[in-house]
Amino acid sequence: MDNKNYYKNMTNFLYQELAWGHMFKKKDGKYIKNTDNNSEIYIKESLRKMKIPLNKLKNKKVFNIGTGRESRFFAKHGADVTHLDIGKSTVKNLNNWAKKNKKKVFSFSSDIETAKIGVDKYDIIFLSGIYQHINVPALALVKFINALKKDGLMYMGFYRSGEFKYFIVDAIRFILEKKQLSEIRNLNAILFTLGEFNHYQSSRVMDDFFVPKKHNFHPRDIIHDIKLLGGKIFYFDNDFREYSHSGSSYFSIGGDRIYIKKKFSKLIKESVIKKKLRTLNGKNQITDIKYKENIINQNIKLIKLIKKKYKAKKINQIDVSSLCIGLYQFTRPLVMEESEYYQKSKKIGRHNVVNEYLKNFINNFDQSNKNIKAFNKKLALKGLK
Ligand SMILES: C[S@@+](CC[C@H](N)C(=O)[O-])C[C@H]1O[C@@H](n2cnc3c(N)ncnc32)[C@H](O)[C@@H]1O
Repeated sequence: MDNKNYYKNMTNFLYQELAWGHMFKKKDGKYIKNTDNNSEIYIKESLRKMKIPLNKLKNKKVFNIGTGRESRFFAKHGADVTHLDIGKSTVKNLNNWAKKNKKKVFSFSSDIETAKIGVDKYDIIFLSGIYQHINVPALALVKFINALKKDGLMYMGFYRSGEFKYFIVDAIRFILEKKQLSEIRNLNAILFTLGEFNHYQSSRVMDDFFVPKKHNFHPRDIIHDIKLLGGKIFYFDNDFREYSHSGSSYFSIGGDRIYIKKKFSKLIKESVIKKKLRTLNGKNQITDIKYKENIINQNIKLIKLIKKKYKAKKINQIDVSSLCIGLYQFTRPLVMEESEYYQKSKKIGRHNVVNEYLKNFINNFDQSNKNIKAFNKKLALKGLK
């Protein structure tokens, strides 16, 4: 399968079968109320920033991508919603819901890269958790800006370069191979979600570890592209730090949400502007950032060494899968208070604990190590291997 087809098939499969898509509907067909409620919180917050009261949503033309829960919110408040998603069942569910509840929703299944979404058409474009997963994000940005009406507003959340959590996620993605998906899914479910796959933690792991594209952007580059395309930024928290790995909260750095207004109606041609765009691709947190701190650079070296040993078959696949699930505990443990990795990180610093973990892993799990070989031999003699 070529790269483009792999991207399409895997993104669809991942979100429909392994993460998020199925989360918002129970087996009995009813939507899980809390997940809709959770999305309402951030949609309402965005609408406040956009200065759009809920009662002004009536008949507003809204464009949205995602699992359907955000579209349901806008449609419930009377908006005229166009929705698309690369997934098929998400679209089917949303269209069925709209028909049953007599809401104005037109939803279709397509990759945003090839989809026609219209020009000068929408009052609001709402994109949360989308930009980072598009194959070539900046080309979709051209499409989004063209699709906005003059004076239309767009909300865009994005994966911010410089977050510790994405350092860990990129380390995991660097080490892992695709063939480990099923093993990771099983191990994670057995260890953390009472054997259930239809669970937040399972969706997170599947999404972070295996979605084909996970771009991280520095806000400087996002802002550059928005301005290049003529968009006006009307709200941004101005956090331009290169990175911050020192805090212990899940989001330790700002600058990952942006609000845009379009002040013109001229059509932008992708071919004319393409070369100047900076968010065609994201920044890898392991390979594309220059870190000053010695401990971070040491950890990058250890991550590369583990990969090398794994490729050379000196480390077993199951041990690498377990390591990756363990690494995730530094950033998204199921229950923060109960995670030893997380709690220790809070005390002595995240990278110090990561360092201890990676070193121990290499010392204890490299099968070519003399002591490990000798111990394996002992086990074999006792019939334990
Ligand atoms: C993280 S999830 C959605 C988050 C969203 N905030 C929500 O609650 O529905 C990402 C969504 O984007 C969709 N998606 C990813 N890449 C896409 C693409 N290239 N074209 C269309 N949809 C895409 C996925 O199928 C998935 O539903």
